[in-house]
Amino acid sequence: MSKLWKGRTDAKTSKLADEFNSSVKVDKRMYKEDIEGSIAHVAMLSRCNIITKNDEKLIIAGLKKILLDIENGKLKINDKSEDIHMFIEETLTKKIGNVGKKLHTARSRNDQVALDIRLNIRKEIILIKKDLKKLIDVIIIIANKNKNTIMSGFTHLQKAQPITFAHYILSYGMMFKRDIERLSDLYKRVNISPIGACALAGTTYKTDRKYEAKLLKMDGVCENSIDAVSDRDFIVEFASALSIISMHLSRLSEEIIIFSSNEFNYIELSDALTTGSSIMPQKKNSDMAELVRGKTGRVYGNLMNILIVLKGLPLAYNKDMQEDKELIFDSIDTIKNCLNIFIEMLDTMKINAKRMLEDAKTGFINATDLADYLVNKGLTFRDAYKISGQIVNYCIKYNEKNTKILTLENLDIDIYKKYSKCFEKDVYKFIDLETCVKRRGSYGGTSPSNIASQIKFLKKQ
Ligand code: ARG
Repeated sequence: MSKLWKGRTDAKTSKLADEFNSSVKVDKRMYKEDIEGSIAHVAMLSRCNIITKNDEKLIIAGLKKILLDIENGKLKINDKSEDIHMFIEETLTKKIGNVGKKLHTARSRNDQVALDIRLNIRKEIILIKKDLKKLIDVIIIIANKNKNTIMSGFTHLQKAQPITFAHYILSYGMMFKRDIERLSDLYKRVNISPIGACALAGTTYKTDRKYEAKLLKMDGVCENSIDAVSDRDFIVEFASALSIISMHLSRLSEEIIIFSSNEFNYIELSDALTTGSSIMPQKKNSDMAELVRGKTGRVYGNLMNILIVLKGLPLAYNKDMQEDKELIFDSIDTIKNCLNIFIEMLDTMKINAKRMLEDAKTGFINATDLADYLVNKGLTFRDAYKISGQIVNYCIKYNEKNTKILTLENLDIDIYKKYSKCFEKDVYKFIDLETCVKRRGSYGGTSPSNIASQIKFLKKQ
């Protein structure tokens, strides 16, 4: 294929070099952004009297036709092209003749590719934010249904204190809300136009970069033309924000896997989102959650990969930077897939409230409340903590030797009194799990009124 940059050399590159150099298979997904950018560029050139109105009309009509033909399948993007920018320019000139060659006036592929990837990421940020919002909506529905679903909260994966399932799931809602905020924040730095920086030094033509940026609905222009074509920090930032989303999804995946195991049985995933085993007939595996957890490696890897590609690169453009797109596109696709799987998985998940309550009753998770009871009766927290621990120890020792299982709820008042004279019959009400949950009214805590405010907070976003 003949090269648009033939001149300095005869451009007779080897087949191997052509294949190695080509990025079109990856960057063809930016065809829309490339055409959108070119249309704005031509409009600017004409407004600044660099090309005529008639040339503008011809080129824009040609570009619009190319867009239409790609979208309706009439025009196939040639996988042998060097990249999407070359493909579109070549196709344009083939279609409208020599006037097409004016399109690349006062720009370079360096600022063009920087623009295209910014426009593409801008679009993807909005789509991913929408998916995150949908996920939060599902979380709110689950929380609303489970305000009174008592479960054990964990630290060190050991039963810790009573919480509600609503409180638990809303904690992820808060994380996903911050993920949205992170995307909104980096959007401000993405939506700045590099076009007009040209190769690196700007141009001698009297262009209007701000006008072109305005046509593209961008919020400003890169102030320094070398920076405009050299840095990909916004891609690193995006890859990092996607990695954080992936981390959140992965932690939730891990808990979904644990909670749906036979041993826990707190939740049950819909059959539609689980798989069986090829040999063990009893199996129902949470493959989707496992895959989301596994794909985190890929998303983190892409972030590291981009950082390493950029490390030590001299200014301005270097071909190394072509690698950025394959990596960020992979993170984008992975995160979108994971979010969509999660929306469906949470939406169809069954919550086993009875089992969670039963299990919550066996872990002495109201031991802190027992200590608080004594504090209410005038003991210091440290003394109360010690007594409460001794009582738990008594029950554990007893349970090792007997069939009857002692809990703080069924322990005889006379035994309580052996540990402290302060114990009265009202202790049972005090350490009842429901009371424990209701009493945790400190801001952000697990009480139903707090849950209502947390739902309100999430709904506001
Ligand atoms: N395909 C290239 C990329 O993605 C486009 C920019 C090429 N610029 C150049 N000076 N060769 O980075």
